Amino acid sequence: MGIIETQEKIRKLLADRNAILLAHYYQRDEIQDIADILGDSLALSIEAAKTTADVILFAGVQFMAESASILSPDKTVLLPRLDAGCPLADKITVEELKQAKSEHPDAMVVTYVNSSAQTKAHSDICCTSANAVRIVGSLDTDTVLMVPDGNLARYTAQFTEKKIIPWKGFCYVHNNLLPGDVLKVKDKNPGAPVAVHPECRPEVIEMADFVGSTGGILKFARETDAQKIIIGTEQGIMHQLKKDSPGKTFIPASDKLTCLDMKRITLDDILTSLLEMKHVVAVPEEIRVPANLALSRMLETSK
Ligand code: 13P
Ligand code: SF4
Repeated sequence: MGIIETQEKIRKLLADRNAILLAHYYQRDEIQDIADILGDSLALSIEAAKTTADVILFAGVQFMAESASILSPDKTVLLPRLDAGCPLADKITVEELKQAKSEHPDAMVVTYVNSSAQTKAHSDICCTSANAVRIVGSLDTDTVLMVPDGNLARYTAQFTEKKIIPWKGFCYVHNNLLPGDVLKVKDKNPGAPVAVHPECRPEVIEMADFVGSTGGILKFARETDAQKIIIGTEQGIMHQLKKDSPGKTFIPASDKLTCLDMKRITLDDILTSLLEMKHVVAVPEEIRVPANLALSRMLETSK
C-alpha cells in the first residue's frame, strides 16, 4: 500500500473509532502530516488532558503515551510500538530517586516529563522544556532536585536564585551535539542564528541565540527576521519548520541529531495499532494517582 492510501485508511479508522492522533515534532514526516494535533510535549499533554475522543493514539515515545493515560484514565491510549522508549527516562530508577530525596530532605523534586510514571509518582511536580523555568520559579522552596536531565537542570539554574541539584541523566541525541559541530556549521553560515533545545550541553547552550522546547524553536523561527537558522535539535522538526516558514532555510547543527526511538513508529504501525487496538498503555492506579498529581500541578502552573 502506498503512503497516501495508508494515510487515508488511518484517517478513516480514526473517525470510526472516535480516536485522535497526537504526534510529536520528531515523528516521521508522513505521520506528522496526518496528525490531529502536532506539538511539543507540553502541548500534547494539554491536549491529552482535555480531549473528548474515546481513543488517543500517540505517535511519540512511551513516556508521552503514559502521561496521556495518567491524565485521561478513562480513555484508551494506544502506542503503536512498545519499543519506542526514551533512554533519558531510564536514566533514573525509583530507588535512586528515593535515595536522592533522603540525601536532600529539604528539596522539592521537579521531574522532567521525559521520565517513567513511577518517577513522576515520587515527585512534587513535573515540567517540560517549555515551562521548566516557570515551574521552578513557582515553588515555595530554596532547593530543587531536578531529574532526570542534568542539562535541563543546569539551563534552568541560570534563571533562578534557588539551589538546583541536577541529576546525572542526559539525552543521547542532544548531548551528542558538541561545540565543535556548531562552530563548523556557524563558520559555513556566517550570521545565521543558532536555536537549540535545553537538553543540549551547557557549552552548546552558551553558543546559542535561542534556547527552547521544540514548540519554542518553531515560534522563534517564525518570528525572527533571519532567513537562515541553525537548528540544534532532533531532525524531525525540520518538516514543520519548513512548512511553517517556507521562505527560510534551516540548517541542522549536526548530522547526528536523530532519535531512533522517535523514528520507530511507521505509518503501517499506526494502521495496525488502530486495526487491532494495540498496544494499550495504562498505568496502575497506585502509581497513576500520585503521578497525576505531579502532572496536573504542572498543567495548572503553566496556564
Ligand atoms: P519537547 O518538550 O521540546 O517537545 O521535547 C521533547 C523531547 O523529547 C526532547 O528530546
Ligand atoms: Fe528521549 Fe532524547 Fe529521544 Fe527526546 S530526543 S525522546 S529526550 S532520547
